[in-house]
Amino acid sequence: MLTRLGILLLVSTLLLFKLKTEEAQQLATNIPDVEKIKPLRIYAATTVQLQPLLCEKIVRFSDIPLDVCYVRTNTVAVALGSVNKTALVDVEKNRVIKIVRLSHKFDGVAVDDNMMVVSSDEKSTLINLNDMCCTILQGVRANHISLFKGNLYGVIDENNESRVSCYKNNGEHIWTFTHREIDEARGLALDKNGCHYIASSNNNSIVVVSPDGKRCSSILSEHDGIHWLWSIDINTESGLMMVPYDSSGEWDTESFDSAFVYKIPNV
Ligand SMILES: *[C@@H]1O[C@H](CO)[C@@H](O)[C@H](O)[C@H]1NC(C)=O
Ligand SMILES: *[C@@H]1O[C@H](CO)[C@@H](O)[C@H](O)[C@H]1NC(C)=O
Ligand SMILES: *[C@@H]1O[C@H](CO)[C@@H](O)[C@H](O)[C@H]1NC(C)=O
Repeated sequence: MLTRLGILLLVSTLLLFKLKTEEAQQLATNIPDVEKIKPLRIYAATTVQLQPLLCEKIVRFSDIPLDVCYVRTNTVAVALGSVNKTALVDVEKNRVIKIVRLSHKFDGVAVDDNMMVVSSDEKSTLINLNDMCCTILQGVRANHISLFKGNLYGVIDENNESRVSCYKNNGEHIWTFTHREIDEARGLALDKNGCHYIASSNNNSIVVVSPDGKRCSSILSEHDGIHWLWSIDINTESGLMMVPYDSSGEWDTESFDSAFVYKIPNV
């Protein structure tokens, strides 16, 4: 059964790519100050309202999808982390094209070019999608993971603290950042400048961490209607950001049925 959460995660990835602007913007030469990032809300929607933008049904899973990410045109990766599998799904033909079996459970999945990474609070695995060669990264522990320009970025909640870390793709640790505003992270996404956007659910805020992991700023908060956060996703080409949340406020995965969509200027 594809749960509502699963649908929402698929919706968020698909929608971001359906709304893709005609041309990718030029890579900015100046990295913006995190304090100056001001997203503009385009709309708030429930999955029912998003329905017309979607294909009818993509594919059903008997295991709960924990995460989803874009792989390449018409292909997404779905993390079936509780059964140690990732499904590569062709969203044009509505079918699973490959099942990648992993040696451990995981929560997050991310893909950049031909590299896929799956992460858990115990370890991560890097998979080369060309030859399916797997490398276990013992030191890379993350509930949510992203890949950007060859580095890995993860966020983990442990001992009442959320830690954002950067690693090389061989697992070597580069930096870790913590801040009281990043509390109970529900997701991590990067924009094309390498800024990290974190859905901080205890704080009801979206916090941006600078590419070097030295500064952060809350760019959206409860005053902007942010609450009951579940995840975050960014389309780096269009600068669109989607923030799924639970409109019922019951913190029930079955009722995570809504999302805000923002445009991040200059990103
Ligand atoms: C998944 O991996 C865990 C280790 O993380 C292992 O204990 C479990 O047996 C595996 N489950 C399946 C279905 O392969
Ligand atoms: C986490 O916070 C809760 C509530 O504030 C507290 O009871 C608990 O001891 C804390 N745990 C750790 C590991 O700090
Ligand atoms: C986030 O939480 C921390 C600790 O509870 C608090 O000090 C801070 O003011 C909060 N920030 C926002 C933006 O709510």
